[in-house]
Amino acid sequence: MMRDDAETSGAQGAGAPRPRVSVIGTGYLGATHAAAMAELGFDVVGVDTDPAKIEALSRGRVPFYEPGLEELIATHLESGRLRFTTDLAEAVAMSDIHFVCVGTPQQATSHAADLRFVESAVAGIARALSHDGIVVGKSTVPVGTAARLRELLGALAPAGIEAELIWNPEFLREGKAVDDTLHPDRVVIGGASDAAETAMREVYAAPIAEGAPFLTVGLETAELVKVSANAFLATKISFINAIAELCTAADADVNALADAIGLDGRIGRRFLDAGLGFGGGCLPKDIRALMHRAGELGAREVVGLMQKVDEINMSQRQRVVDLALQACGGSVLNARVGVLGAAFKPLTDDVRDSPALNVAAALHLRGAQVSVFDPAAGETARRTFPTLSFADGMRDTLPGADVVLLLTEWREFLDADPVELGALVRTRTIIDARTKLDVDRWTAAGWTVIGLGTGVHEPLRASVAALA
Ligand code: UDX
Repeated sequence: MMRDDAETSGAQGAGAPRPRVSVIGTGYLGATHAAAMAELGFDVVGVDTDPAKIEALSRGRVPFYEPGLEELIATHLESGRLRFTTDLAEAVAMSDIHFVCVGTPQQATSHAADLRFVESAVAGIARALSHDGIVVGKSTVPVGTAARLRELLGALAPAGIEAELIWNPEFLREGKAVDDTLHPDRVVIGGASDAAETAMREVYAAPIAEGAPFLTVGLETAELVKVSANAFLATKISFINAIAELCTAADADVNALADAIGLDGRIGRRFLDAGLGFGGGCLPKDIRALMHRAGELGAREVVGLMQKVDEINMSQRQRVVDLALQACGGSVLNARVGVLGAAFKPLTDDVRDSPALNVAAALHLRGAQVSVFDPAAGETARRTFPTLSFADGMRDTLPGADVVLLLTEWREFLDADPVELGALVRTRTIIDARTKLDVDRWTAAGWTVIGLGTGVHEPLRASVAALA
């Protein structure tokens, strides 16, 4: 049964009707995907079960920090190509391609992914289908999930309606989500029939025209591509952090080492920044879900490898706590600790599994007076750790500090004037947990800079004398 009200999208001019798009789930992934689809010329309706989120998005407000997204949503609310609703049935009835972008968080009691939202989204779409359509999974799921969802769709779709489920993993990074979605490195489509492949080529015509490779693979491979990509990135980070430990022991510099090995085209420099390690809503939960699923499938090597990657990553947090303890003479009890950064990385207000917030909380629990500042994540961090003290600006975290910790490498912190900041603290000691500071500038201003794998840099005496 074909849709009988197919129209030509205004943006396309006359010609063959363009598929209309629904996007189920309007978090980081869904809100960005919906806006990007509108930007690519499709009529899009975004759906979420959270009325507050839909209300905000409908007014052009993005309930999280993502550079460029609010502007793009405003543009397409205005152009009329984008709208938001809580009414899944209505959205499905007026669309032909349904992107599933709901979250797959880690279960509270195990490493497995919680698939309730993705199952309920597919069931909801299936029940609401009023004409043929394609359901496109974008959420990150354990391998084998899509095949089960395909059965669910088949079982629940009304008789006479043809619905196909395919998988199209998303690789967007928070903070760069809009650009990553509009200009992906590659488009991966899993388990598509010829008709679904044609529809996907139409959806992604612009990126394909820009040269993005379009890869068609099996359903299971598509699911695994996503988690394997994240597992590899996580492995790269834990690799360099393990080498950073060796650099510390051997008096070498991990940054110089990363630059040198990164020049080998087979290795590449990206994702070789040593430091506090990875956090966020994806990498940690995805490698744990992979570990869990690999265990179920008997792929023991993957379990062992991911276990080690996770362990190394978590130990970085402890390492920074230990460095802070050392810097304060063995105990942080009643010490003042200035913390720069709460988000899991710059350009986001996301504090999910944030190493920065973890370290700040651990020091607080040991009796330190911790003051945290983050340019975007102050509010989300406060909600997560209401007992921590949050400052309104970088300078407010520092008065009287016995040690300063740089935990998220916001530009604002890297560009700060160490002379000015030095006048605020009690002790000019900074732990550069992201190994991103200009050490010469800071040591010249009288600071001791403690890195992770980059050594301890004492203040430059001559410059300090000149400062005095
Ligand atoms: C990641 C993947 O990059 C993306 O492709 C996927 O779709 C979702 O997960 P994201 O979680 O937004 O994206 O963050 P990313 O930029 O990958 O950074 C992840 C974490 O690794 C951050 O905590 C970051 O600080 C850390 N990191 C990154 C390092 O510690 N060192 C590095 O060299 C790079």
